[in-house]
Amino acid sequence: MFKLSEQGLAEVKKELARYEAKESAIIPSLYIAQKENSGFVNPSVIHHLSQVMDIPEARINEVFKFYTMFNQKPVGKYHVQVCTNISCALEGSREMAGYICHELGVKYDEVTADGRFTVSKVECLGSCGTAPMMQVNDYYHEKLTPESAMNLLRGMK
Ligand code: FES
Repeated sequence: MFKLSEQGLAEVKKELARYEAKESAIIPSLYIAQKENSGFVNPSVIHHLSQVMDIPEARINEVFKFYTMFNQKPVGKYHVQVCTNISCALEGSREMAGYICHELGVKYDEVTADGRFTVSKVECLGSCGTAPMMQVNDYYHEKLTPESAMNLLRGMK
């Protein structure tokens, strides 16, 4: 059963205190819990957050399921999220995403055998002017080519 760390619990309580409506703290709390649960959210996480936040599981679940930045299954150490929305797609991001998967030997949303990478296609990340782009964990990488993207990933320890 998932339980937040002391620090995680303090952070969630801080988020709850920040807003008039406690539902507003669901997104930041899911982020905190996801980080502590090896990068993904499962029913155990939802259950624990529901108890800590005093919000029905269904309410937390609907937020969790709506937003793609919350992972429904484990991801690799580096979560490679390639934007495949219109601006990036016009600049070749879909081909780039396919190339990355091919080079890493995985399908979308799978974890590589060494546990290092998961490649996902995501919606617009708000960086359309620097297409094509991808986000790896918390960092944006922009104006990529398939080769520059792979070189970047190969350099990650
Ligand atoms: S379309 Fe890719 S960042 Fe907006």
